[in-house]
Amino acid sequence: MKTLPEQAKGFAHGKIILMGEHAVVYGEPAIALPFRATPVEVTIEKIATPNRIISSYYQGLLCEAPRSLNNLSILIKTICNDLNQSSDHLSITITSSIPAERGMGSSAAVATALVRALFTYYDEQLDASHLLNYVDLSEKIAHGNPSGIDARVTSSDVPIFYQKGSVFEPFTLNIAGYLIASDTGVQGQTRQTVKDVADQVKRSPDQTMVIIKRLGRLTLQAKEAIEKNQEVTLGKLMTQAHELLRQLNVSNDLLDQLVETALSHGALGAKLTGGGRGGCMIALTRTKKEAELVSNKLMEQGAVNTWIHALGADNEG
Ligand code: PMV
Repeated sequence: MKTLPEQAKGFAHGKIILMGEHAVVYGEPAIALPFRATPVEVTIEKIATPNRIISSYYQGLLCEAPRSLNNLSILIKTICNDLNQSSDHLSITITSSIPAERGMGSSAAVATALVRALFTYYDEQLDASHLLNYVDLSEKIAHGNPSGIDARVTSSDVPIFYQKGSVFEPFTLNIAGYLIASDTGVQGQTRQTVKDVADQVKRSPDQTMVIIKRLGRLTLQAKEAIEKNQEVTLGKLMTQAHELLRQLNVSNDLLDQLVETALSHGALGAKLTGGGRGGCMIALTRTKKEAELVSNKLMEQGAVNTWIHALGADNEG
């Protein structure tokens, strides 16, 4: 029998949807990036008492945790059962720098780090497809029926091009430039906006599907711009996507204002990212200095946090 370590850790990171949110639900492509500026760490330790969880959101016995942590309790039970291990006497410490409910993949990243930590703790091999199955299970409990982007990208080291029904295609960000992600401080409304877009499709199918198809085309053009290192084109496509997302009624005043602020201070493009009506927006600049200027202006205009991500140099996070 294996001797279990006193402690094991698992890691993951946030994600940003560069292009294609909402349209992806209707079979159009999307591009998402791993966002290493927002890491997550889960530590598992052996304890004598029943399972407990320590996070910024809740500290206490796992069996008394709020319903919103059900996904994690079920994940722990399922994994321990699959690995023939007792699912008790674990202390689970979650240290996450991803703000929750901002479209940055917080729940999927925590689940990814948790699965990795548990497999390391029990000294078991974990392949990518098993990891995804576990994170998908957790995401379904947390969010109903997500597209699966978060589960893939929070565990991936490379950007992903995704279209429903086909494989997730990793690809290289061959583009100079800096991406600024900016938190509105307002919870994203993904579940509601996805439902509202579905209602809009029902109400005016032709008009709405034209917008969705245009978003899909912009994503394909963005992929091409990235492959050809055309950051000016990519910026324009991002701003056009924001306009179409506004027409889908998933933006709000604050997101529009932050997009305007970024554009009027030299950003090549800007848009909301994720579900919308809160959460985050992103902007593209040519240089780090420009990114810092835009980031400061966004903070002045009401953003509560910003992160700068070097696109071409993937390792610089
Ligand atoms: O808010 P987020 O980052 O979870 O992104 C939602 C993206 C949508 O396309 C709106 C929905 C989905 O499941 O893909």
